[in-house]
Amino acid sequence: MVQKEEIEKAKEYFGKILEEQLARAERIKISSQPIDFSKIRPIIIGVAGGDGIGPIIVGEAERVLKALLKEEIDRGDVIFRDIEGLTIENRVKVMKAVPDDVLKEIKKTHVLLKGPTHTPSPGDPWPNIESANVALRKELDLFANVRPVKNPILNIDWTFFRENTEGEYILGSSGIDIGDVSIDFKVITEAGSERIIRMAFDYARKTGLNRVSVVTKANVVKRTDGRFYKVAERIAREYPEVKWDHWFIDIFSAKLLDHERRSDFKVIVSPNLYGDILTDEAAQLQGGVGTAGSANIGSRYAMFEAIHGTAPRMVKEGRAIYADPESILRASVLMLQHIGFKEKAEVLDKALDMCSIYERKIVVTGRPGGATTREYADYVLSWVERPDLKEEWERKREEFLAKAKGGSI
Ligand code: IPM
Ligand code: MG
Repeated sequence: MVQKEEIEKAKEYFGKILEEQLARAERIKISSQPIDFSKIRPIIIGVAGGDGIGPIIVGEAERVLKALLKEEIDRGDVIFRDIEGLTIENRVKVMKAVPDDVLKEIKKTHVLLKGPTHTPSPGDPWPNIESANVALRKELDLFANVRPVKNPILNIDWTFFRENTEGEYILGSSGIDIGDVSIDFKVITEAGSERIIRMAFDYARKTGLNRVSVVTKANVVKRTDGRFYKVAERIAREYPEVKWDHWFIDIFSAKLLDHERRSDFKVIVSPNLYGDILTDEAAQLQGGVGTAGSANIGSRYAMFEAIHGTAPRMVKEGRAIYADPESILRASVLMLQHIGFKEKAEVLDKALDMCSIYERKIVVTGRPGGATTREYADYVLSWVERPDLKEEWERKREEFLAKAKGGSI
């Protein structure tokens, strides 16, 4: 039997949570205008390797970026800074998702290039502390998780806008057990929904795509998802040229696999957890989670990372040097765009397209026999340095699509 006392304690706890969330909602409303990072020079790029395959793929991405930004570094416009201590061992030592001194160092940078960090779960050998990703997104208020996914053969080119600080995640480590009952909380706020939905609509307008799909489960999860939907409806009125529709997460997941319909989707916006799941599904259609990068954007900070985890099995089996760095390199493209190096971003993106889609002279398989992380990065660098990259990209792309049409890919 649950004691009355325990119930009273839980009510008090809920009251506290409510107060905190109401205060947070107010803070979002008055949060500052976004900083334009393309105007900040020197720009400080923090680099944190993370756990598992993280240091290997991040190390190669850093090498590629340093080659690409050589002039800017020499001129003093770009500074790379190593951020130590974002490892599971160190985090467990102080029992914090992000140790205070590490967070302080991160806050002294403008943007962070981050490798995957181990997220403990029940049954794990590590204590069940909060995910470093989730903590950093909350601490730095990185409310938008932007994840592009494309596959020219399937004719898909999607940009996901995943709300990144609310939903099931915000109190994911603050649920309660009472007797046989476990309760977690899902929180969605008006201002929190507005800022991510607006970002998606702005993007659709700016790119001329003029199409937004909003994904919720508002038919069942009536309060939180219901609010997200209503905010979308309100914001959409300000963008008459943007066609928008609303989907439930279950059928939308199915439609991403529907080759008759999926090319119609362009910009997708959703609450946090749905965005998490959808973007793994979408990335699989691009070639796997190892190929997809992600931007976590806030008004003051931004963090760029792969969408996948630390690949502990690869490390255990001694295959870490065969890890695919495409994900973190695609994240680097997003970072270059964010800090105002649009040309360089395009060069890296096209070089990656050559290496992973159109030419594929060497292929990373994650196993011996395939290319190593370093070999792949060298391959990327060789394309980055080619003066005929853009023409070759056009030519190989045409060739590739013609072959695909003929059924030979
Ligand atoms: C992601 C990851 C994280 C998330 C994990 C590592 C906490 O899956 O970035 O999508 O759930 O957001
Ligand atoms: Mg995920």
